[in-house]
Amino acid sequence: MNYNIITTPLLEAITAIVGADAVIVQHDELEKYSHDETEDLVYYPDVVVKPQSPEEISALLKLCNKYLIPVTPRGAGTGLSGGALPVKGGLLIAMERFNKVLEIDEQNLQATVEPGVITEEFMNQAAAKGLLYPVDPASKGSCFIGGNVSHGSGGPRVVKYGTIREYVLNLQVVLASGEIIWTGANTLKYASGYNLTQLMIGSEGTLGIVTKIVVKLIPLPTIDALMLASFPSNEAACAAVSAIFRAGIVPSALEFMERKGVEWVKEHDDIAFDLQDGIEAFLLIEVYGNNQDVIFADCEKINEVLEAYDCSDVLFADSSAQKEELWRLRRTMAVSVKSNSVYKEEDTVVPRAALPQLIKGIKDIGAKYGFESVCYGHAGDGNLHVNIIKANMSDEDWNNKLKFGIREIFELTVSLGGTLSGEHGIGLVQKDFMPIKYSEVHFALWRGIKNVFDPKGILNPGKIF
Ligand code: LAC
Ligand code: ZN
Repeated sequence: MNYNIITTPLLEAITAIVGADAVIVQHDELEKYSHDETEDLVYYPDVVVKPQSPEEISALLKLCNKYLIPVTPRGAGTGLSGGALPVKGGLLIAMERFNKVLEIDEQNLQATVEPGVITEEFMNQAAAKGLLYPVDPASKGSCFIGGNVSHGSGGPRVVKYGTIREYVLNLQVVLASGEIIWTGANTLKYASGYNLTQLMIGSEGTLGIVTKIVVKLIPLPTIDALMLASFPSNEAACAAVSAIFRAGIVPSALEFMERKGVEWVKEHDDIAFDLQDGIEAFLLIEVYGNNQDVIFADCEKINEVLEAYDCSDVLFADSSAQKEELWRLRRTMAVSVKSNSVYKEEDTVVPRAALPQLIKGIKDIGAKYGFESVCYGHAGDGNLHVNIIKANMSDEDWNNKLKFGIREIFELTVSLGGTLSGEHGIGLVQKDFMPIKYSEVHFALWRGIKNVFDPKGILNPGKIF
């Protein structure tokens, strides 16, 4: 696709739409929009705009569609697959002024929010009304709910409550043509033709720009218990995961952490945590409910399973401060790994019971190609974040050999019945690996869909496939 540059008259037209104070062209001010949280990748947009209404976005897209200007929508820039990187330059639409929770409807247990709302702020507003919005990515304190929609995001509580796909009921979207539509209805059921809401979720800004989000809420559980189980090996910890579900318990979170990850968080974040010799892996297990006796019984049952699976020790958090500390240990792991080494992060996901084979295979592939990895993630979902760290690898091996190792990790993941990403998306950095899982038939269908929504290919070009 041959895109055009933003000429002076075009910049004037853009400025007339959003106002001069919502346009950025200075190189130093563009810097913030040239990267997200994906590795060390940097791509500068030519112009950034900060619109504040669907109508402004509509006018911008009409213009860009007419003059073939690439458009990259951007939330908070916390993405891990390069989805918000303006790889073709052009116009970057920053959604930060769409920052209002428009309504929390306590009659229907629904809310309408704008995409630039910080996920945790929305969770807190819902909680103040006794309601739970359970989609809580590790970056919940800074990510935008619109970015979560774009990536089909998850987080620790997916294991009990499901991903954002289970919560979004309806979306207001501006299409590449500039038309503004609602994708569905504000109903809990939807059997009315092709489901455009679900198609839009996870489409990473390639099919339209989301401007309002209607989500479902659920009653807020009143009691929780949190335990940290220690294991002598990664495989023992991973094998216990599916056994917990087979014992009849669905925890509200079931997270895996490798020892090295915990060591790095301790270094990076000064967390008071006594790391014993001989412990190689941890499961962080949370149970939510409304009845203390039921919670106790669930914890007992989990404990029995853990004992049967070689668990060395179980720590029950006995205060909310300790719970917070344990969650901090898990939630800051991505940032700690990042601050420690040059790295690449993969987001493998397999059927839950295949987790022991996945982790063993990843370590074997690492030994073969000479790389170290730190693994952690949402074990209850079979979703393992694999952080490959450069450590002592030569630049030559890192730049040229590593990709074959990553390819083998994905081949293993697919052979175990899994796929390339559970929640971080494909974006820029995983798209070359898509043919490992998907055939030319899939690509043809995707291209067809893209062509219907965005025939000139202006929306987030260079992403997914
Ligand atoms: C996490 C992010 C990286 O789970 O998805 O920490
Ligand atoms: Zn995650």
